[in-house]
Amino acid sequence: MSQEIHSGDAMAVILNRRSVRDYTDAPLGDEVIEQLLRAGMSAPTAKNMQPWSFIVVTSRETLSTLAEGLPFGKMLGKAAAAITVCALPEEANNGSAELAVVDATCATENILMAAQAVGLGAVWVASYPYEDRMAHVRTVLGIPDTVIPLCVIPLGYPTVVKPPIDKFKPEKIHREKW
Ligand SMILES: Cc1cc2nc3c(=O)[nH]c(=O)nc-3n(C[C@H](O)[C@H](O)[C@H](O)COP(=O)(O)O)c2cc1C
Repeated sequence: MSQEIHSGDAMAVILNRRSVRDYTDAPLGDEVIEQLLRAGMSAPTAKNMQPWSFIVVTSRETLSTLAEGLPFGKMLGKAAAAITVCALPEEANNGSAELAVVDATCATENILMAAQAVGLGAVWVASYPYEDRMAHVRTVLGIPDTVIPLCVIPLGYPTVVKPPIDKFKPEKIHREKW
């Protein structure tokens, strides 16, 4: 696929993004999934180590099985696809699990933004840091113990467009000093 750049205004994408947990039955094409993965892999990483892997799931059965072990991931049962973002400590700067998680988090945010930009609904479903949820995701997706399944991102076309929330809080900002 060519690296087509969509012209959606970046600030509008950022400010309008919401967690979307209800999807239509429409399937996702391979091209749109690749766009999301390209966005994920465009994220910054410590020392440019890119210590991540992405598992794409479109099988209805696997999506439902994932949902069973994720208490706040029931929407996976309705999703057209999901991307599980994995952090790879062995490939991170200094072999650091912390940096791997930070780097994979940057990739996740990029995927969430890209989903918004192309008109998809998505949400971060937590796996890390919960040992039981990580164990479930590892078992279902065959992920080795050395790899951290950071989160699962269900994807689908939204049934409704949620209005943006203004979270700007001036009291959260310090100038010059705390
Ligand atoms: C680390 C993290 C874990 C999250 N885990 C879940 C989850 O397991 N299930 C879920 O439905 N939403 C989850 N979310 C999404 C938040 O609930 C959501 O971002 C928050 O309520 C704000 O809503 P918004 O994304 O629409 O602005 C998670 C978000 C983050 C950053």
